[in-house]
Amino acid sequence: MSSTLIVYSTTDGHTRKISQHLQQVIEQHGNQARLADIRDINTYRLTDFDKIVLGASIRYGKHRPDVYAFIRHNQALLESRPSAYFSVNVVARKPNKRQADTNPYVRKFLRQISWQPKNLAVFAGKLDYQRYGFWDRNIIRLIMWITKGPTDPMTNIEFTDWAQVEEFGRKIANL
Ligand SMILES: Cc1cc2nc3c(=O)[nH]c(=O)nc-3n(C[C@H](O)[C@H](O)[C@H](O)COP(=O)(O)O)c2cc1C
Repeated sequence: MSSTLIVYSTTDGHTRKISQHLQQVIEQHGNQARLADIRDINTYRLTDFDKIVLGASIRYGKHRPDVYAFIRHNQALLESRPSAYFSVNVVARKPNKRQADTNPYVRKFLRQISWQPKNLAVFAGKLDYQRYGFWDRNIIRLIMWITKGPTDPMTNIEFTDWAQVEEFGRKIANL
């Protein structure tokens, strides 16, 4: 039985929800999986885990700084055992932007970091306009208008393809 640590970076909780789903799939395959909010990462001993998964959402084109710091501090460890990375963003609602080599954020991210994860996934995220403040809501609505996405201020939609999440979970379970 292997143990996996899923480290997630989230603002509104959707990357945590995807991580919980991955955890369930991994456990259904008879392996252990734990979740760690990247903000609490110092309370975990990463060497206790056989596999490490890092998942992070995009805000205004980037992952948060602690994602870069986590990779910088743990690159040798990430390379010493099976590891994986996934990104969550709404550009990935378009199936042709849902691969590591077609999603602009993931392509840019991989150029910025020196860890090159062998197992990657890009998941479509969630939009919940009523949850955001005035400026965030209207900036995202403008971006959605430009990219032909939903602009209704009452929009609350999960674009995530959960079958894709499950497939990635199975892949991690079998690493
Ligand atoms: C303020 C804000 C900025 C965002 N910026 C982007 C962006 O630049 N590109 C994108 O594809 N998605 C963007 N998103 C969509 C998020 O990636 C999506 O809502 C995701 O599900 C958030 O995951 P989280 O709840 O784990 O943080 C943005 C969302 C918010 C609220």
